[in-house]
Amino acid sequence: MKKVAFLAGARPNYMKIFPVWKAVSAARLPMIPSLIHTGQHYDELMSGVFFRDFQMPKPTHFLGVGSGPHGLQTAKVMIALEELFTQERPDLLVVSGDVNSTMAGALVAAKMGVPVVHIEAGLRSFDRTMPEEINRIVTDAISDLLLTSSRDADEHLLHEGIPAAKIRFVGNVMIDSLVALLPKAMESSKPRELAVEGRSFVLVTLHRPSNVDDPTRLQLLMKSLAELAAQAPVVFPVHPRTRRMLEQLSSQQAGNGLKLTEPLSYLDFVALESQAALVVTDSGGIQEETSYLGIPCLTIRANTERPVTVTSGTNRLLDPARESLTAAAQAALKTGRRKTPCPIEGWEGRAAERIAKVLQQFLGL
Ligand code: UD1
Repeated sequence: MKKVAFLAGARPNYMKIFPVWKAVSAARLPMIPSLIHTGQHYDELMSGVFFRDFQMPKPTHFLGVGSGPHGLQTAKVMIALEELFTQERPDLLVVSGDVNSTMAGALVAAKMGVPVVHIEAGLRSFDRTMPEEINRIVTDAISDLLLTSSRDADEHLLHEGIPAAKIRFVGNVMIDSLVALLPKAMESSKPRELAVEGRSFVLVTLHRPSNVDDPTRLQLLMKSLAELAAQAPVVFPVHPRTRRMLEQLSSQQAGNGLKLTEPLSYLDFVALESQAALVVTDSGGIQEETSYLGIPCLTIRANTERPVTVTSGTNRLLDPARESLTAAAQAALKTGRRKTPCPIEGWEGRAAERIAKVLQQFLGL
């Protein structure tokens, strides 16, 4: 029996780790899986609710690291994980994405000689001002098996000197979560509660430091959203980081069609996302989900580590300091949804099965 530890720390990790956990369990491989939650995200709405939506067991280990500056947060994960691995040494650590917990986990495992598998390897924005870009580069450099979700990721890794034998294209596991839970999400009453059911509405998420940590930038974005809300209802579930910054802005934010809410559960969010006429975001995963769903997406960033969502999906990058968000939104609304299935290779809901097979092979089971 091989001990396989799965690591999750922040909201975007759950939808990448949970389908793999389930696929591994369903395959009845000779593995003892454990789920480690670092506690980078700890609020009920940023963590607990996702375990329920996905019907996941409670984490085997909770490290409780909480928030803090990058160095402190990363170090806390490393200290707690090193202690845990000293007591219970796994045969493999599986990490996903690009959050601080991902990199911290990979560093500890690599230094203790525990092989590391990175799900969603090889994404690059080529923008090192993004903390996630640093996390991606470091994690990929020390991982033993790099599982990619798009073909450009393979190319980046090869270009960085990672041997081809370590790289496996498996497709996008986040789409597995979406495909699996979309029917259940359609039962959500959230669109009705927010009075947008059956209406042409816009869904917004913003949480990147580059957008929300600078008050002038955030003020500009809120002004653009207020303009947009004069034309169509705008639903904006607010991330805790953004909430904190908004509280410091004196201007009136909500009202006139702009509906600010608490962070939503996965099912409620997917319900809104799949029914929205347009999504405005700076999230990575949402660029992918809208591309799968065929919903126009405006990404408020100068670059993306997911260019396939622009070339083959429904995503467009936009800088509201240079271009009117309202005008771009109108154009996107006019174009409307893509009616055909998602054309991106490996984004169909079966990535976790492929990952389970690759893990089995890697562990020699
Ligand atoms: C983190 C990830 C980011 C990801 C995002 C998704 C890093 C570097 N960033 O950003 O890539 O897109 O998660 O949500 O790992 N907070 C709470 N409750 C929580 C969690 C956070 O109130 O449960 C607040 C705290 O004030 C904290 C702030 O949010 O200081 C930021 O949290 P943190 O985990 O440092 O980064 P995120 O902005 O969430």
